Amino acid sequence: MRLRIILLLSLLTSFVRLSAENVVSIATKDISLVYRVGTDGRFYQAYLGKRLTNEADFFCLPQGAECYLTHGMEDYYEPALHVLHNDGNPSTLLKYVSHEVNPLEEGVTETVISLKDEQYPIEVKIHFVAYFENDIIKEFTEILHHEEHPIVLEKYASSMLHFSKEKYYLTEFTGDWAHEANMSETLLTFGKKEVDSKLGARANMFASPFFQLSFDFPSTENTGEVLVGTLGWTGNFRFTFEVDHLNRLRVISGINPYASQYLLPSGEVFRTPDFYFTYSTEGKGEASRRFHDWARLHQIKDGLDSRMTLLNNWEATYFDFDENKLLSLIKDAKSLGVDMFLLDDGWFGNKYPRQSDTQGLGDWQENAKKLPNGLERLVEEAKRQGVKFGVWIEPEMVSPKSELYEKHKDWVIHLPNRDEYYFRNQLVLDLSNPEVQDYVFGVVDGLMARYPNIAYFKWDCNSPITNIYSMYLGDRQTHLYIDYVRGYYNVLDRIRVKYPDLSMMLCAGGGGRTDYEALRYYTEFWPSDNTDPIERLFIQWGYSQIFPSKVLCAHVTSWNKKASIKFRTDVAMMGKLGFDINLHELSEEEREYCVQAVRQYNEMKSVILDGDLYRLVSPYTGPHTSSMYVSKSKKEAVVFSFDIHPRYGERLLPVRLDGLDPNGLYEVEEICLMKGASSSLSENGKVFSGNYLMTVGLHLFSSQELFSRIVKVTAL
Ligand code: DGJ
Repeated sequence: MRLRIILLLSLLTSFVRLSAENVVSIATKDISLVYRVGTDGRFYQAYLGKRLTNEADFFCLPQGAECYLTHGMEDYYEPALHVLHNDGNPSTLLKYVSHEVNPLEEGVTETVISLKDEQYPIEVKIHFVAYFENDIIKEFTEILHHEEHPIVLEKYASSMLHFSKEKYYLTEFTGDWAHEANMSETLLTFGKKEVDSKLGARANMFASPFFQLSFDFPSTENTGEVLVGTLGWTGNFRFTFEVDHLNRLRVISGINPYASQYLLPSGEVFRTPDFYFTYSTEGKGEASRRFHDWARLHQIKDGLDSRMTLLNNWEATYFDFDENKLLSLIKDAKSLGVDMFLLDDGWFGNKYPRQSDTQGLGDWQENAKKLPNGLERLVEEAKRQGVKFGVWIEPEMVSPKSELYEKHKDWVIHLPNRDEYYFRNQLVLDLSNPEVQDYVFGVVDGLMARYPNIAYFKWDCNSPITNIYSMYLGDRQTHLYIDYVRGYYNVLDRIRVKYPDLSMMLCAGGGGRTDYEALRYYTEFWPSDNTDPIERLFIQWGYSQIFPSKVLCAHVTSWNKKASIKFRTDVAMMGKLGFDINLHELSEEEREYCVQAVRQYNEMKSVILDGDLYRLVSPYTGPHTSSMYVSKSKKEAVVFSFDIHPRYGERLLPVRLDGLDPNGLYEVEEICLMKGASSSLSENGKVFSGNYLMTVGLHLFSSQELFSRIVKVTAL
């Protein structure tokens, strides 16, 4: 009998006619996210998916799952929020209070939903910022209370999203140093899958803070429903995917609460990092292009500006250089035709000269032996040659063999009563301490004061946080992972304000830091120390799912000399092109190829960096791969193709292009050929309709191992 009454009641509530006040709709061009207030006053996610065009239909949606589930009430699975109140009560029950909609800028609208607990003076505000044209939604949460003493935040997600589908396929991006962003797809079944980081500083060494989640079927480049999400937080993150007994899925994204209980004082707001997502019904390619457009327009530092090509000395010299060698490299940069020379690790330290990675970090004065005339001489020479000058720093770190360590052991994260553990022979400075923040800011500020012509910093971060303990935080040790990242952002904010034109590369021993919050301060990032072109095809494929080529630094190096210089350069031209190689180890013909490639790259740069990316053939599915970039006007396109290890007797099918105007006519021309070589592309020099190129395609692939092509497709 009781059961029947409950059933009847729930049937009635699901048909309750909702009014406009208790439905909250967040919309972009193609996505609808609809919430509604239940008759119990709680707030529910009724819908997330393809845009619902008839608003009247919102009122017919089923109630769905509670938007921001809390610990301690009736829910049996992972909560978004877990709070310990002053009286020891660990539960929170949130009810809808109000919401407001604020236009932020043209096409960008923020919806703020306010939820409160009737028993405890705690308020949770959930913010959704909808980028209408780009189909991206940003979500974050603010937590505020007025209890007498601090409340303890045990869990504090940025976002909780609910799905009820047949099947869930999760693609994660994981790996290690020199092996970043490997894509793997898993079918989610009952229970919990977490993708997270506990590394503190070099936070993404093993896992990147983004995912793709396909519904019902694994999505492809052009088909399928897929949610793509990423957290803007340069520290420990956690994505939780939990399938319940009814095959419903919740996705919880935010800071990893691991060892990070946060004591929130009365009246202070705890703001979570931003979670960004899109929901595409046209596969992963469309989702990537949405992220690329949005990021260039709204997120990345100088997102709409072009990028500098460069010559970096790291792999050409490692620590073994002096002034003369560098002066000659600056001349090489000039003759190569790149925009900048970038001086890497090894230029500093006197008491503990940085001639290897065992010492010197923290002592940011030029090594007098290697650079008797300081950076001054190099900056001047670069100016004389008409190239910009950039320099490597790693200001958050300290070597135990350094003057900084001798002077300020209290600034170092380490456990007072344990042996120190060194990752790459170094330790992490305690950025939760404002004095340390001043020092780190001072590294950049000091160099800029002395050498205002420095145009670029490569900011490295090679160690995770180990032996975690802060002399500064006292009894708030569980704040360290969070306050470290906040301290890091404080420093970056100061740099951005004082040096708004400075470009910076985000680097963390390769791709150990790759998130969209850091990219508000950095113009680009270093995806991996692995520059073997074959590996790079995979790594770049992985990162391109989320990031535009504009931020993916791709350098030509000596890794994998089995691959020709053309192959190596062609791979690097798919991103932000640079060289990290001793040009004198190349033959004249090879050097000429590089010079020609830089020239060609400059001509096509706007298409590669600002155009639409279409991934045509995945390196994960066979021995060949191909991608193309199409200008927004659809008048120009550049197609890259690579034969990695073709099979004997393999049938080579044409590759269908994408993104062109089907009614347009296009000329096809293979470019970037080695001197004296002629194109073997059967369609070279001919004219085709966009329709033909996208339906029949081009015979891009060959049966030659490590063969590459770049093909220009130009509208007539
Ligand atoms: C790690 C970076 O990823 C490399 O590119 C290089 O800058 C080294 N650090 C220098 O120590």
